[in-house]
Amino acid sequence: MCGIVGYTGINNVGGILLKGLKRLEYRGYDSAGVAIVENNGIYVQKTKGRIRELDEDDFPNGNVGIGHTRWATHGKPSDENAHPFSDCTGEFAVVHNGIIDNFVTLKEELIKKGHEFTSETDSEVIAHLIEENYQGDLVETLKNIVGMLRGSYAICAVQKDSNRIVIARDQSPLVIGVGVDENLIASDVPAVLDYTNEVKYLEDGDVAEISSNGVHIWDSLGNAVERETVEIDWNLEDAEKGGYEHYMLKEIYEQPKAIHDSLLGRLVEFNDVDFKQYDTRFIRIISCGTSYHAALVGKYIIEEIAKIPCTAELASEYRYSSPSEYLPFTILISQSGETADTIAAAKEAKQRGCKTMAITNVMNSSITREVDEVIYTQAGPEIGVAATKTFTTQLIVLYLIAMELGLNNNKLLRENAQDYRDELRRLPRHVKVLLDQSEDIRKVCEKLVDADDIFFVGRNINYPVALEGALKLKEIAYIHSAGYPAGELKHGPFALLTENTPVVAILVKDHTFEKMLGNIGEIAARSSPIIAVGDHDKELKKLSDKLITIPSVPPMFSPILVNVVLQLLAYYTAYELDCAIDKPRNLAKSVTVE
Ligand code: F6R
Repeated sequence: MCGIVGYTGINNVGGILLKGLKRLEYRGYDSAGVAIVENNGIYVQKTKGRIRELDEDDFPNGNVGIGHTRWATHGKPSDENAHPFSDCTGEFAVVHNGIIDNFVTLKEELIKKGHEFTSETDSEVIAHLIEENYQGDLVETLKNIVGMLRGSYAICAVQKDSNRIVIARDQSPLVIGVGVDENLIASDVPAVLDYTNEVKYLEDGDVAEISSNGVHIWDSLGNAVERETVEIDWNLEDAEKGGYEHYMLKEIYEQPKAIHDSLLGRLVEFNDVDFKQYDTRFIRIISCGTSYHAALVGKYIIEEIAKIPCTAELASEYRYSSPSEYLPFTILISQSGETADTIAAAKEAKQRGCKTMAITNVMNSSITREVDEVIYTQAGPEIGVAATKTFTTQLIVLYLIAMELGLNNNKLLRENAQDYRDELRRLPRHVKVLLDQSEDIRKVCEKLVDADDIFFVGRNINYPVALEGALKLKEIAYIHSAGYPAGELKHGPFALLTENTPVVAILVKDHTFEKMLGNIGEIAARSSPIIAVGDHDKELKKLSDKLITIPSVPPMFSPILVNVVLQLLAYYTAYELDCAIDKPRNLAKSVTVE
């Protein structure tokens, strides 16, 4: 969602800005623009549409500039609403990510003072506020005006005749890439990695000034502060397609490694968090989207292994719920660590007095600063908008947490823990077996591509996997699909079942298998095509139009394997339908607004 890049240094800036913006394309956008500080002015070019529609030949030479990809919130995608924005005098240019909640009031006041606006956006008020409040020093001006803004922001501003970029952040990601004779800024690390692997993460409320040879940072109280320089230990190749047609497919295929890396150093002894220092008699897991589905699976895992009552809640609901007297140990799951609703939920949980822990894939992401403890998933960078390997590694971490909690409260016997460890160790191999069958799975998509509606059903621990399968399909193949607990179909959705409504059914040999077989029989009686995913069974084979079997594992570990099949089904269906798999319409990789 919205991407920012900025550069100040000894090189010509135009190409650097375009390259940086392209590295952020995965975040999703609908318009793009750049501002380049040139002799005696600031050149601005912006357009609705793709980055390639910007005309680089028209860019002036310059060593300082900022660029932006916009994902529309206030005002439709258009040339006028694209960033950067200038003030009335053309002295400043600004890009902004986030949302300014009080922009209407600010805009009315500025209009009364004679400012003329060119867009419908909330962001434009920032350029005019700078002009209105400027008293000779852009850093001081920005420090002053961020106090007037309500909402979330990452702001970058440049000024005529200056080699500085002045930036501020609150609840929207912004990193500084620290180079030699050059410094960069970006919404995410891939945009600076061509130039440096050393970055500084700003904290909420920070304002900073960047020039070719210096970085100065002030905290929300105005005190000069140092922020640690972190060395990034993955390179651009890790974040590139490596021969696969789409990032999503590459990331699906990376899952054996992602599982392996997430288990590394954690199986024999789990030292990431000392749970004994917390009250973990009741657990709540909060998250959004795919991470919420991981949370739902996590509920089953924790209740089964550690016998601890656990709830899974959507972040956007939790934050507006009524506080209760229970103070559960609260786990926030967010791949990006930047999801606005999940960050707000983390703050809310803390405010209510809960101990909090984040599970995230991104080092030093915003959520890590809001919680008492952090566990990293170690999936490596995920670029495709649809979450795949990060879901799998979130589950891996949840298994590890459940085992640790179970050992601590003596609900998990040591010998059973050893069996679980062995199962976890075998998972990368099992996933590989499924990936090797991808051509067979691909053929099944013929049964899905022409459908307008598809149901995904499962029970118990595989019910959330059905939800995730349906989300993946609607997200990338644009086919309406609904995940259901199989037992609920007869309470309404049965009315929709026809020979044109395929049902993807998950059946593993757990205590719900027979009930599931009964459900499949009922669905078959309504003539819906059935694609079964799960364990081999003669009766199931007879009832279903196609059975995709997974390697044999204890039911508790089946979600990881079943989900890989559902990922491939979604991918190949979207592929057949020629959809924009890595950048589905209207979606962004990290949702940094409410
Ligand atoms: C779906 C997807 C989204 C994210 C959701 C939360 O494929 O990627 O549903 O799971 O936006 O994102 P994170 O995990 O970054 O908080």
